[in-house]
Amino acid sequence: MSTARSHWSTRFAFILAAVGSAVGLGNLWKFPYMAGANGGGAFVLIYLLCIAAVGVPIFIAELYIGQKGQKNAVASFEATHEKNTPWRCIGFMGLASAFIILSFYSVVGGWILDFSFKSIFNQFAGKSDEEVKGFLGALFESPWTQVGWHFVFMTGTVGIVLGGVRNGIEKWNKILMPTLFALLGVLFIYSFTLSGFSQSISFLFSPDTSKLTAAGVLEAVGHSFFTLSLGMGAIITYGSYLKKKEGLAKIAITVAFLDTLVALIAGVVIFSVVFTHGMEPGGGPTLLFQTLPVLFSKMTGGYILAVAFFLLVAFAAFSSSVSLLEVAVAYWVETKKKDRVRTTLLIGIVIFGIGVLSALSTNVLSDVKIFKFTFFDLFDKLTSSIFLPLGGVLISLFYGWVLGPKAIEESLSLGKKPSLMKIGLLWTTRVLAPVAVMIVLVKGVMDF
Ligand code: PFF
Repeated sequence: MSTARSHWSTRFAFILAAVGSAVGLGNLWKFPYMAGANGGGAFVLIYLLCIAAVGVPIFIAELYIGQKGQKNAVASFEATHEKNTPWRCIGFMGLASAFIILSFYSVVGGWILDFSFKSIFNQFAGKSDEEVKGFLGALFESPWTQVGWHFVFMTGTVGIVLGGVRNGIEKWNKILMPTLFALLGVLFIYSFTLSGFSQSISFLFSPDTSKLTAAGVLEAVGHSFFTLSLGMGAIITYGSYLKKKEGLAKIAITVAFLDTLVALIAGVVIFSVVFTHGMEPGGGPTLLFQTLPVLFSKMTGGYILAVAFFLLVAFAAFSSSVSLLEVAVAYWVETKKKDRVRTTLLIGIVIFGIGVLSALSTNVLSDVKIFKFTFFDLFDKLTSSIFLPLGGVLISLFYGWVLGPKAIEESLSLGKKPSLMKIGLLWTTRVLAPVAVMIVLVKGVMDF
C-alpha cells in the first residue's frame, strides 16, 4: 500500500469539496424549518452573526490544524503539537460524532431519495392535500421502506468514498456542486414569479427581535457548527489534503459565504412557495416533506420544480455525507494502517447498523425513549447540541492558546507585523468563540 498522501488537485477542487461538505441537509432542510419556527428575520440575524464571529474563526482553526498536520483528525493534533497530546481526544470525539451524525443523516438522506423517486414518478399529481401529506406518515410507519432507503443512501456514500480523495470525493463534488448551484439558481429565479416572494423576503430579512427566544439564539449557535461541518474534524480531514502553501482565511470566508448563501436562497424559495399558498411558515421538520409537495402538486410547472428540488437536496446530502465518512476512513487507514476499501466497507456497515435505530424510531422503536428522546432525536441532540459545540470550543482553545500567535500568522499569511486581523482572530479563538459556545453547551446539557 502506498503511504503517499493524496491531495486535492487544485485549490478550487478543495473549495468545491469543502462547500460540498458544508452545504447539505443543514441548509436545505434544517435551516428553513428552524428559521420558520423561530420567527424568521431575528433568527437569521443571529445565525449570520454566529457564522461570522464564531464559525469563520473555527473554520480557519480546523483548516490550519489539518493543513499543518497533514494527517487525519486525531493525528493532526499530535503532528501540530506533540505525540500523545491529550488534545487528540478532540479527534476521538470527532470520530464518535462522525459515526452518530452519519447514521441519522443517512436516514434523512433516505427520505429525500424516497421523495425524489415519488416526484420523478409524478406521485404528488392529482392527489388531495391530505393524501400528499400522508406520504411522510406512510414512510415513517414502514420500517422496511425506511431501512431500505437508508441502505441505498449509505451505499451511495460508501461508493463515492471508496474512490478515494481524488477519484471519489473530488470527482463527484465537481459534478454535484455545479449542478446543485444551477438547480438552486433556477428555483430562485422561479420564486421571483411567485406572489409570495416579497413576503418571503420580509419574513427572512426584517428582524423582529420580540420573536426571538433564548432557545432560538442557542439553536442558531449550534446550527452554525452543524451547517459549516465544524467541531468534529471533517474540515481538519479535508484540510489535511490541502498542500501546505494555500492561504486559509480566504478559503474559510468563501466556504462560509457560499454555505450561507445557499441556506438563505433555499429559505427564500421555500417561503415564497409557502406564502404564495397562504400556509404556515412554522411547519417544523416536516416543512420539506409535507408543505412543499402539497404546494408543488398545485403549481404550474410543479412537476419539474419538485424533481429539481428533491434532486438538489439529494446531491447536497451526498456531498456532505461523504465528508462524514471520510473522517473515520482517514483515521483507520492512516493511523491503524488498514486497507482503504475494506475499511470503508466495514465502517459503512457499522454506521448503517447504528442508523437502523434511527430508521426504526418512527415505528417499531417509537416507544423506546432515552432521556425522553427517541434514538433519532437523541443522536441529533447529542451531536448538534453537545459534541459539535464542545469539539468547537476545544479546537478553538487549542488553536488560540496552544498553537497561538505563530499559527495565526501562518493561517493569515500576513507575516510578523501586528495587524488588527491577527489580534482579532487570536482573541476570538482564545476567548470570544469559546465563551459564546460554552453558553450553548451548558444549555444543551441542561436539555437532557
Ligand atoms: N454541514 C452539513 C449540513 O449542513 O448538512 C452536515 C455536516 C456534514 C455536519 C459534515 C458535520 C460534518 F462533519
